[in-house]
Amino acid sequence: MSVILLQTVGSFSAMHPFQCVLRARRCLRRGPLASVSWLLLRTCRAHSSVPSSACPSPQRQQEDGVWKDFSSRLATGPTFQDFLRSASVPPEQPSSSEVEDPPPYLTVDELLGRQRRVYLETYGCQMNVNDTEIAWSILQKSGYLRTSNLQEADVILLVTCSIREKAEQTIWNRLHQLKSLKSKRLRSRVPLRIGILGCMAERLKEEILNREKMVDILAGPDAYRDLPQLLAVAESGQQAANVLLSLDETYADVMPVQTSPSATSAFVSIMRGCDNMCSYCIVPFTRGRERSRPVASILEEVRKLSEQGLKEVTLLGQNVNSFRDNSEVQFNNAVSTNLSRGFSTNYKAKQGGLRFAHLLDQVSRIDPEMRIRFTSPHPKDFPDEVLQLIRERDNICKQIHLPAQSGSSRVLEAMRRGYSREAYVELIHHIRESIPGVSLSSDFIAGFCGETEEDHLQTVSLLREVQYNIGFLFAYSMRQKTRAYHRLKDDIPEEVKLRRLEELITVFREEATKANKSFVGCTQLVLVEGPSKRSAADLCGRNDGNLKVIFADAEMEDATDSRLRVRAQPGDYVLVKITSASSQTLKGHVLCKTTLKDSTAYC
Ligand code: 5AD
Ligand code: SF4
Repeated sequence: MSVILLQTVGSFSAMHPFQCVLRARRCLRRGPLASVSWLLLRTCRAHSSVPSSACPSPQRQQEDGVWKDFSSRLATGPTFQDFLRSASVPPEQPSSSEVEDPPPYLTVDELLGRQRRVYLETYGCQMNVNDTEIAWSILQKSGYLRTSNLQEADVILLVTCSIREKAEQTIWNRLHQLKSLKSKRLRSRVPLRIGILGCMAERLKEEILNREKMVDILAGPDAYRDLPQLLAVAESGQQAANVLLSLDETYADVMPVQTSPSATSAFVSIMRGCDNMCSYCIVPFTRGRERSRPVASILEEVRKLSEQGLKEVTLLGQNVNSFRDNSEVQFNNAVSTNLSRGFSTNYKAKQGGLRFAHLLDQVSRIDPEMRIRFTSPHPKDFPDEVLQLIRERDNICKQIHLPAQSGSSRVLEAMRRGYSREAYVELIHHIRESIPGVSLSSDFIAGFCGETEEDHLQTVSLLREVQYNIGFLFAYSMRQKTRAYHRLKDDIPEEVKLRRLEELITVFREEATKANKSFVGCTQLVLVEGPSKRSAADLCGRNDGNLKVIFADAEMEDATDSRLRVRAQPGDYVLVKITSASSQTLKGHVLCKTTLKDSTAYC
């Protein structure tokens, strides 16, 4: 098995040219089924200063039939200029049916999808949902077709998550199932190709290829543009991988394809990566450095979504509110915004750029009937400009996700979160004063390294004190490479982690039920999503605070034209009188159809 290690964060230059050649050479000697990364081959040529003796000798080339074909491709292969071009800012995308110029060792025909059917499966966070659409957009332009039927697929791509051990285990299990699908494939059909995309490809790199020989391609989160090339290499039975992380890839020019044409809402990725380096978190290692997409391209995407009739966009990123568009020199003169009081960063202060408040302002002006949400923010970046904007714009949802992770200052320090419990609680008060009625949600980790019973009780008390409406709670899962892995001890027994997690969930539910009961008797503005999963007689939608609202599908008045009696459709705004509440859902009866700008919730 060859080693296909294209180091994280940075560029090819991180790899010594000689090392790179040796790795490529090892690939080539293995014969037709050897793993070859086309990117690796490019790097070999790219480092033209490498002594020629470092490349495979002509004698060895003749020993191996594969090498002949390969060496002739390599002879006409990419130059240093090709490499520079591909490493620079991506060019404008060709029009829909065009395919990018192939690298010299592939033909245009090899790059085309040839009507192969791709089945995409997404695991993990919303960022992965968006990445799936980006990957699909790229493949579609290359002539691939999409299928939602696994049996029909010629290519199966899993968009993976590495955040916790369990998430990775799910993928390994899935790969075992797919293995049998691949081996039972009829010879009359083209061979089935399987690819691992996203965080797990990035974290485990060639370990996946070694463990699961049936995996044909690996593409890290910044390598989706190369999917057609990787699949083209895989067509010849070789494994192919690109797990390079980029400093500037934001897929700004790739318009994600909406997977469900009837969807009322869409995700718009505004930044990628994370520089925070919380001590427990693998994300900075799998998704690389923080970088923001240019404001103009975000606005263009949101405008298109509005024209398509979508009623809600969620701005996405690992730290959305740390957004900083430095794509133009003049943006560096932009007025700087402060961190939230009592918060610090693990990195050197960054300067200039268009910040999140600017983006939010511009996005919310595009369509007054379009709800704007954002996730996931970091508590350190909530300057007053952002809070005021949320307060004053009707279409920016009054809902803030404020991941606390722990209620103990001691644990927060070990987590390197950059704030104490006191600073966090002060921020909560400030947010509640600035945005009356705001809905709050949070993430918590139970059983982090060194967490005492007292620390745990502090988290319980934070849950009681804040009374979140929505919560995401996890047991700590140690991740290699992280600071906690290197410096701290994962010393809380599994059963204690799980017991503490259960306690947090119970307290969260009790408090959320209380918080949500305060809606009973109130009227909520609900964006209708479609039929309720539990009953065909009911419809389901979400209120401004992102809580699920269930109501009977009944005829109602259309407030925009009182002569009409209508039934709610997906994408409609309706007013619903809330009659009951649980920790996760509100129930009520529909009053009328309305518009976002003409109605507000009231009690
Ligand atoms: N173990 C458990 N939970 C984690 N998270 C991130 N890393 C880990 C880990 N190693 C949680 C955090 C984060 C959310 C997305 O996932 O709460 O906010
Ligand atoms: Fe992970 Fe912390 Fe970055 Fe969130 S902010 S992605 S928890 S490192």
